Formats: sequence, structure tokens, C-alpha cells
Amino acid sequence: MRSAKDFFRPLAVGAPTPVREIPFRPSRMIHFFDPSNPKMAAKVPDLAPKVDVLLGNLEDAVQASNKEAARSGLVDIGKATDFGDTQLWTRINSLDSPWALDDLLTLVPAIGGKLDVIMVPKVEGAEDIHYVDRLLAQLEAKAGIERPILVHAILETATGVANVEEISGASPRMQGLSLGPADLAASRRMKTTRVGGGHPGYLVRSDPIGDDLTSGRTTYQQDLWHYTVARMVDACVANGILPYYGPFGDIRDVVACEDQFRNAYLLGCVGAWSLHPAQIPIARKVFSPDPAEVRWARRVIAEMGDGTGAVMIDGKMQDDASVKQCRVVAELADALAE
Ligand code: GLV
Ligand code: MG
Repeated sequence: MRSAKDFFRPLAVGAPTPVREIPFRPSRMIHFFDPSNPKMAAKVPDLAPKVDVLLGNLEDAVQASNKEAARSGLVDIGKATDFGDTQLWTRINSLDSPWALDDLLTLVPAIGGKLDVIMVPKVEGAEDIHYVDRLLAQLEAKAGIERPILVHAILETATGVANVEEISGASPRMQGLSLGPADLAASRRMKTTRVGGGHPGYLVRSDPIGDDLTSGRTTYQQDLWHYTVARMVDACVANGILPYYGPFGDIRDVVACEDQFRNAYLLGCVGAWSLHPAQIPIARKVFSPDPAEVRWARRVIAEMGDGTGAVMIDGKMQDDASVKQCRVVAELADALAE
């Protein structure tokens, strides 16, 4: 039987990253919908051209009594909709639930040819990915599906974070990882009850000015997710896959949503989940490079000629390493413009 390995080009000798190439497709916002909800399902054809990724969610937020309706709703939508350039993903139920196997057995034969990525929640180690990988290989072979369905893991347990490197490299099907801040907070016994974002109590204060301990201090709110996002980004880059911030649950707080998404973007993430149409333009803006930064990046690249040595531009020293940084921004802008 063909394994997923056969579908991908071999490792590029000497290439830093990515170590293997999945063709670039924008995925700045992974827009979640509940296929068991007829009102949401009816909006899918209109929504498809407005987002990079549409994801039919079968897991948390879908009631146990609606699992079958969500599955069959997704099959109907998958068959009836022309997704154009938009990717179709699904989030299946977790592997320790009674539903995950039926999710795969139903979806792959019915709409496997249209499914780009299967998101697997609560992944704890490479064995979870191996299990899904083997099942997909069998189901694809049986259904005659030529293009491999890729796998995306949610990082949302303390054990998953501890094993993030082995998860990222567990299969050539691996497409990326998302931070799952809500489940991760519960798993770690953190004391936040929000879905993503910060907490007003997680603060640092600046040192007091002079001897006055009660005034003259500034308070900064810290990013609860900095460590995990940075760790996830390193594991993804080392394995040639893509990192994503996950959900931001306070739909009304568009400012905090944008701030959280931007922090993730600046740390290397390529996208985030959108849980509501209001979050679609936020993700599009944040995960597309700022035009002024693209102009600056192109200027540095041009002035650095063959990319070696050093030049001063507007009083700032640029060298071989800054050209590499600038290429990241310029290449992302070019890829998104295509
Ligand atoms: C997402 O699934 C989360 O738990 O945050
Ligand atoms: Mg979760």
C-alpha cells in the first residue's frame, strides 16, 4: 500500500527550512462552522470565497446528541459546495472519544477527495498521529483517493506540549499545529477560564521610582501563551510544518483578539482560528505582512545586493542575517499576492 511518504518530495539537501515542501496555500484564518447547525451550514457557500480555510467542526461545541448530524451535515456541504481556492478542513473528535473512528470512516469515503486537512484534537504523542495516518492510508486506498489528506494536531494538553517535537515530525502528512489555549489551560491547571487571550491578573509591575512603593509603578499585562507559542513555532519550523494560534473566545473584544493574533504572527505563526465572521478581517489583516514593512524589507534586500556584507540604511546596520529576515516578510507578501 502507498504510504504518505510517497506523496512528498524527498528532503531537500542543505535547505534550512522547510525540510519538505507542501505547496503554499494561504491559511490566515481557519474559519470554524458547526455543520449540525442548519443556519450556519446555509451560509457556507457565501462564506467560502471570503476565507482561506473553512473548517467543519465535529468536536467540542457540538453536543453529543448532534455528532451524527454534524458528520452528515459536513458530508452534504462537502458534496454540494464548490470551494474554489478555499481549503476544506474538519476537526474530528478526539481519539479517546467514542466518535473519532466513525468520523473518519464516514468522511473519508464520502468527501475525502475534497478534504485538505483533518485537525486532530488533544494529541499527546506521535502514536496518535501514527494511528490517524494508518487509518487514512487504508481509507484513501479503498476510496481511490490520490491526493493525501494532511493532518493538523491541536496542542492542548501538558503532555502534548512536552511531546511537541515528536508530534510535529510524526508523519509526512503533518501540515501544522494549533495552540488550544482552553483545553491546555485546564490540562495544566492554570486558573484562567477564558478561551485564549490574557487574564487581567497576570501582570508584572515595574520597579518603584525612588522609595515610594505605592505610586510611580507601571503595570503590564503579560502574554499567558508566549512560552507555548514559541515552543510550538520551533517544533514546527524544525519539521517543516506550520504553526497557528488557536481560538479567541471573546468575540466582542476585537482589540484583544487583534493583539493576541499579532503577538502570534510576530512570533512566527501563519494564522489563527476565526470563530465568528468579525474575526475574519482581523486575521486577514494581522497575518498579511504590513505594506510599510514589505517596502522596507524590499529596500534592504535591494541595497544589500548579493546579500552579503553590511550596509547602513537610515542609520541602521543591515547584514546577511537582516536580509534573511527581510526575505521572510517579502516572500510571504509575494506568496499571498499570487
Ligand atoms: C481549542 O480547542 C481549545 O481548547 O482552546
Ligand atoms: Mg480544545
